[in-house]
Amino acid sequence: MYVWPCAVVLAQYLWFHRRSLPGKAVLEIGAGVSLPGIVAAKCGAKVTLSDSAELPHCLEICRQSCRMNHLPQVPVLGLTWGHVSQDLLGLPPQDIVLASDVFFEPEDFEDILTTVYFLMQKNPRVQLWSTYQVRSADWSLEALLYKWEMRCAHVPLGSFDADKEHIADSALPGRHTVEMLVISRAEEGPVHMVSVSGLYLLRLW
Ligand SMILES: C[S@@+](CC[C@H](N)C(=O)[O-])C[C@H]1O[C@@H](n2cnc3c(N)ncnc32)[C@H](O)[C@@H]1O
Repeated sequence: MYVWPCAVVLAQYLWFHRRSLPGKAVLEIGAGVSLPGIVAAKCGAKVTLSDSAELPHCLEICRQSCRMNHLPQVPVLGLTWGHVSQDLLGLPPQDIVLASDVFFEPEDFEDILTTVYFLMQKNPRVQLWSTYQVRSADWSLEALLYKWEMRCAHVPLGSFDADKEHIADSALPGRHTVEMLVISRAEEGPVHMVSVSGLYLLRLW
């Protein structure tokens, strides 16, 4: 398995916000190698890692990352996007959901957001921190965000020192176009549309 360029950028965002992480409940979805979740755990967050319940080898990779980074206390769950499983039902309220490079198949977008919506019922203030790689100008989250009563803010990479080809000695971001989003529950107030690198987003100013 591979650490995707998005993971390095999301890990950089976590490192930039490391002082806010101790004690926070953080769930990584579609974690794979789990770089962002591992960084969050090292910064003192109460992390749970997850990947598809149907991909046991990916779950084993999550566990291996925990072992290699001396984090035996980090639980690893099989959470398939869009499935309300016993493991999802049993999760305590989360403060932050991490998602690195999960928005790559438009047919999965709604399943990802429904999982986040479910977690918003447990904690309305939960935020999805997500990085995605721009692969197509046709992608759009706009209608789904509206349907699931969410809003989205685009975080400029320069604001957390990630607007460069090498981050923390990693060349992975390279020339890939990676964007950072924070998705939260929509609130009352003026909502404006913004278009960011082909993804049409809602932004509350
Ligand atoms: C492009 S990889 C990103 C891995 C990791 N987050 C990173 O950035 O290095 C996508 C990840 O999503 C997981 N995934 C794919 N479909 C899924 C689903 N339906 N539910 C949960 N996870 C899924 C894959 O197993 C894989 O780990």
